[in-house]
Amino acid sequence: MKKIAVLTSGGDAPGMNTAIRAVVRRALFKELDVYGVQYGLKGLIRGEFISMDLGSVGDIIHRGGTILQSTRCEEFKTYEGQQQAIAQLQEVGIEGLIIIGGDGSFKAAKKLTEQGLPTIGIPATIDNDITGTEYSIGFDTAVNTAVEAIDKIRDTAVSHERTYVIEVMGRDAGDIALWAGMCTGAESIIIPEVGYDPMDVINRVKQGAERGKMHSIIVAAEGVGKGMEIGEMIKKETGFDTKVSILGHLQRGGSPTAFDRMISSQMGAKAVDLLIEGEKGMMVGLKNGRLIHLSFEEATKEKHKIDLDIYDLARSLSI
Ligand code: ADP
Ligand code: F6P
Repeated sequence: MKKIAVLTSGGDAPGMNTAIRAVVRRALFKELDVYGVQYGLKGLIRGEFISMDLGSVGDIIHRGGTILQSTRCEEFKTYEGQQQAIAQLQEVGIEGLIIIGGDGSFKAAKKLTEQGLPTIGIPATIDNDITGTEYSIGFDTAVNTAVEAIDKIRDTAVSHERTYVIEVMGRDAGDIALWAGMCTGAESIIIPEVGYDPMDVINRVKQGAERGKMHSIIVAAEGVGKGMEIGEMIKKETGFDTKVSILGHLQRGGSPTAFDRMISSQMGAKAVDLLIEGEKGMMVGLKNGRLIHLSFEEATKEKHKIDLDIYDLARSLSI
């Protein structure tokens, strides 16, 4: 293998830049030519390649977002789109591709491998919902961002004796809500994997008030009910001063934590090494804290499971 390319795809995540840097620097260290594909899979179809050197990934190790930009691309789901991408790669002589993204992007990566282009995936999504790895790049930063925001909201919640519903990201996955809720002592954590009983949420708020605690924090993943609706319901049923705060996309940005930088650096280098070793159709992952690789099929076949022990523990600690 002499020439490889790297792209970012799907929702961005803090640490993507660190991973791009690791891919580029490891590839150059191993004397490969390396290209960046701009605008994700859309850019692949359009042939938007840029040659990367040591300097092109300088000063990005600590930056959120992705210097290569990221897109979602419906056209890539078609056979014609995939063939067009392969033709663009062949024209430049690129023999291997690294895709940094989520499980949607790995479906695309699997198709490329099946059509003859060796592809390796690096898991990056703040939702941390890729089954084949216990960690996806961006989650630690997103959780820390949410925790910092919720701590601040708690300050004002205590001052004004208010109940706050805080909606965090996670359309189909409750990991951010679970971790942020646990780490901020939320009275209730609402996640799609468990669903929620409105009366349980209300009772927990009322129980707190009965023992003199006049502020409450409820952390809800965006995927289950809407923060606004939950807030309205609590206000109606308890009469307590209730506010809603939607953290939204601020959880997707910001400087990656040390943990995200460490994992991104390791996964980026490992992805390059796998291509050199002749591996294809594989995702880099983390298991028991160690780097592994497994097929895209294996990595995405089951639905992501949440750690219900943490959920139960959080409930028992916030009575
Ligand atoms: P993520 O990678 O963060 O999960 P998406 O689910 O939005 O993000 O997927 C990113 C992109 O991957 C999509 O916009 C599309 O271009 C491509 N993709 C998703 N599913 C498929 C599929 N079944 N076949 C080919 N490409 C796909
Ligand atoms: O990155 C994952 C995620 O943040 C989900 O939690 C969320 O629903 C989704 O992306 C929103 O992404 P966008 O606003 O870019 O469509």
